[in-house]
Amino acid sequence: MIPQDTISQIFDAARVEEVVADFVALKRRGGNFTGLCPFHNERTPSFHVSPTKGIYKCFGCGKAGNSVNFVMEHEKFTYPEALRYLAKKYNIEIQEEAETAEQVAEKSAREGLMAIVDFAAKFFANQLFNTDEGLSVGLSYFHGRSFSDETIREFQLGYSPEVWDSLSKEALKNGFSADMLEKSGLSIKKDDRLYDRFRGRVMFPIHSQAGRVIGFGGRIMTSDKTRPKYVNSPESEIYNKSKVLYGISFAKHAIAANDMCFLVEGYTDVISMYRAGVQNVVSSSGTSLTVDQIRMIKRYTPNITILYDGDPAGIKASFRGIDMILEQGMNVKVVLFPDGEDPDSFARTRRGAEVQEFIQQNAKDFIHFKIDLLLSETGRDPLKRVAVLKDFIESISLIPDQLTRLAYVKESADRMQMDERAILNELNKLLRKKFTQKSGSTPTEADELDNLFAPEPAEQQQESFDALSTDDIEREIIRQLLLFGDVEIETNYPDPETGEPVKNKVKAASFIINDITADELDFSNAQYQQIFNTCVTELRNNPDIDYRKLTNHPDNAVSGPVIDLIATKYTFSPNWEKRKIRLLQEHEVLDFLIPNSILSFKSKRVRQILKELLEKIKIAESDDISIDLQKQYINAKRIANLIDGGQLGRTIV
Ligand code: CTP
Ligand code: MN
Repeated sequence: MIPQDTISQIFDAARVEEVVADFVALKRRGGNFTGLCPFHNERTPSFHVSPTKGIYKCFGCGKAGNSVNFVMEHEKFTYPEALRYLAKKYNIEIQEEAETAEQVAEKSAREGLMAIVDFAAKFFANQLFNTDEGLSVGLSYFHGRSFSDETIREFQLGYSPEVWDSLSKEALKNGFSADMLEKSGLSIKKDDRLYDRFRGRVMFPIHSQAGRVIGFGGRIMTSDKTRPKYVNSPESEIYNKSKVLYGISFAKHAIAANDMCFLVEGYTDVISMYRAGVQNVVSSSGTSLTVDQIRMIKRYTPNITILYDGDPAGIKASFRGIDMILEQGMNVKVVLFPDGEDPDSFARTRRGAEVQEFIQQNAKDFIHFKIDLLLSETGRDPLKRVAVLKDFIESISLIPDQLTRLAYVKESADRMQMDERAILNELNKLLRKKFTQKSGSTPTEADELDNLFAPEPAEQQQESFDALSTDDIEREIIRQLLLFGDVEIETNYPDPETGEPVKNKVKAASFIINDITADELDFSNAQYQQIFNTCVTELRNNPDIDYRKLTNHPDNAVSGPVIDLIATKYTFSPNWEKRKIRLLQEHEVLDFLIPNSILSFKSKRVRQILKELLEKIKIAESDDISIDLQKQYINAKRIANLIDGGQLGRTIV
């Protein structure tokens, strides 16, 4: 364990331009540096380093971070490894804090499991290459699938002999305990005897993101229909199915370099594609895709292409999983393989370039693909077409980015032969419904609450409220706080005494902070709240917010989103003229933009809080509690009314 102040010391010392310069040739450009991005292939430099902000950002592949993130990404270090590396570079001594007995025990249990599955992987590989049964059954099977020896060794493929307990025996002989064998899932205990889980199967080790073996899949070698075709390791302390992608440790560099991840069905598809030379490929192997798996891919690229064999029923069954990918803000394409082919069989007989070309020519945007497929099934039946429209709108509503949503509506109106505005209307209705559902209230309560908000906000404003989620609005406020905190804005609000409008010049940061803290509103997103708090503390010490304090914050929950938010193309653009113009445009509207965002934020937050209070009042355990809650409710309602009257800035002096 590295003590917290040492971590801060490391973050303070590690200058991003120095850390990056050890790996990338940097050229000075004004106050910044540029170079060729180490995370993807490029010929013209789009990788930028800003010493003042303490961050790097590549405008080609989108990678961004601080000095610690850089070594984590570049050297594939874990967080503690990155800190140790930087401590060494800057001669900072790390005095380790003692770990608790519990931590030690947990770590050694995990390490023990890692050791035993690693032992098993070597055992299976040895069986494959060095025993008669392995060679004649296992290796010849792999060769029959056109796997090369090089690929077989790289993926550490193996063979488990058709014996009840060969692995269990060998592991015990090598000092592993029966308990560990059972916990790792390699052995099964029955009547006080250990049996091997995998017998007479070719073995596919499953690797963690860092490339360590954590589990296995085993394919049967006989045509015995009473035994399952594939057996997989059960969940263990080191193997969590929903958080693992088969092939990720082999694919991760290629995924980042190609800015694309291919998703296939199983082990054999991954390996065949890889052997053909297409390396940016992973599989969720047998289980349906999970959010954790999608997020893992998102660390390397926002682009996923799903490769299907051409079975329409299977494709339709996967639609829900794909909606989940859209929801993560990723771009999804799909490729259908010719009848009877899957990525495995297709890649087996072809070279990488051919496979790539086929994918490129046949990749269809998922949403378009889905509409086309569904429409082709409905024909001219108007009722069925409405159902397709609903389904389509449902998918679109999941896309977090508003502009992307609009682009889809525009493009798809033609395909559906519908009026764009009609689709947009339906989409807005759905988004509004989702918003009320998310806040967890029944429709009647929502109506009741809507009635509290008199007068109705102007139509246009209502529309922009609906378009943004609470999270979007909160992020926008933090972005404005970080990017424009130092800019003076002019406000024009009625004096509380006289009611006369008064012009005021005030720094955007004080305006935002004062206005939000005055109503004691908090952010629903804990990360944003933490950044906001840090800014409040910072502002107290120093009237100008120091970016480096935030981008180099030891807590990733603070530095991560801050880097994302401030690393915008505009502030980094090498083109000075352009940069000025972009910033100016936003500057010019700040007087309007900032109060408007705060207004949207408050309106959303207060609605949420009112709903929460209503819920609490319903289940209040005593009259006292209930009365107290009702008081809070009345107060929140007062604020809601003020907000709807457009009153902001009343606390600014
Ligand atoms: N799969 C699985 N469990 C099963 C069947 C399939 O996990 N019961 C996964 C495996 O990862 C496999 C992939 O789905 O690689 C493709 O399935 P399939 O084509 O049936 O497996 P293959 O081993 O390729 O068999 P075949 O030679 O018959 O194509
Ligand atoms: Mn197959």
